[in-house]
Amino acid sequence: MSTYQATVSAPVNIACIKYWGKRDTKLILPTNSSLSVTLDQDHLRSTTSARCDPGFEKDALWLNGKEDEIKPGGRLATCITEMKKLRKEYEDQNPNEPKISGYSVRIASENNFPTAAGLASSASGFAALVYALATLYKLPSSPSQLSLIARQGSGSACRSLFGGFVAWEMGTSVTGTDSFAVQVAPAEHWSDMHALICVVSDAKKGTSSTSGMQRTVETSELLQWRIKEVVPKRMKEMQKAILDKDFDTFATITMRDSNQFHAVALDTDPPIFYMNDTSRAIVAMVTELNRVSVENGGGLKAAYTYDAGPNAVIYAREKDMKEIVNMVCHYFPLLASTQPYEDRFKLFSAGEKVGE
Ligand code: ADP
Ligand code: DP6
Ligand code: CO
Repeated sequence: MSTYQATVSAPVNIACIKYWGKRDTKLILPTNSSLSVTLDQDHLRSTTSARCDPGFEKDALWLNGKEDEIKPGGRLATCITEMKKLRKEYEDQNPNEPKISGYSVRIASENNFPTAAGLASSASGFAALVYALATLYKLPSSPSQLSLIARQGSGSACRSLFGGFVAWEMGTSVTGTDSFAVQVAPAEHWSDMHALICVVSDAKKGTSSTSGMQRTVETSELLQWRIKEVVPKRMKEMQKAILDKDFDTFATITMRDSNQFHAVALDTDPPIFYMNDTSRAIVAMVTELNRVSVENGGGLKAAYTYDAGPNAVIYAREKDMKEIVNMVCHYFPLLASTQPYEDRFKLFSAGEKVGE
């Protein structure tokens, strides 16, 4: 048998400190560090199979059942080429291993949630692609090493190689060797941290993350303030908040960073609007919930965050989640009734690492 095959799944991650801007568009080197929570794989995941065989004429990829073009020099081609290089090195060091690095690969991937709708499909998608090839090739690479390659598929993908709380350190080198993901804390560290996904719209976004952030880099003055003065401080404060399990600080930074990211999108010329009226109404609901809680002597209960799309992710502790779900159902009955409940609101705990 000369066909080799591996199948893996990778989870999405939702950033609390957002990546938005590249200093190098080819290598995908960011203008700021970022930090996210990887969700568990029970609901939102990419499942990817990779095969290689001497009979395959060219590399090919199917996404959700449709063949996707692998453009020479494009992101898919870069990831596949880099993984083949790692396999070649492995074969050189282990002469008894089969020489498969020269074979073409066929990859099939499915997302079990809306693709390109602001729910981080590029993150789980490229993490699953890289991890599927690493498994196929039996590579001993660490998650951080693989994150260097996943990063070149989609920046946010580098963070999905780890479970739990994950930082993507922007690095300073021009070659990108120090721009990779590291785990801040495993999911078990803060196991009552949950995320509620409210699918406001599953439509494909009008402006892709890639083109949107490039336009922001070219036109927004506010972005310069954000990357120099705001994010470095927030990265430090957020890592401490996670290690201390300090929900008030975690929630405050998460909401403020989401707001600043969308402000920077608005400061782009022409402006980009990712949130809609429903997104803003969910912000108001969470704000009110937190205000009442603080007024009664408690702390913050929930933190909203929005990626490049209108869909809300609400981080909260397990003890408060029931109240939050009831509130969303009460104030957004349409959101709750237009699709089966399970497809609209998904409850997560922070997840395991890719492949588990
Ligand atoms: P999102 O908010 O969903 O991450 P992006 O605009 O960042 O949206 O990226 C969407 C693109 O990511 C898709 O058009 C596709 O090229 C790529 N992508 C999504 N899922 C996968 C997957 N499972 N495997 C490979 N590439 C994927
Ligand atoms: C708003 O990683 O999708 O979700 O690197 O061009 O593929 P590319 O962009 P992508 O951007 C994600 C932007 C974000 C914030 C985040 O995930 O940090
Ligand atoms: Co994306």
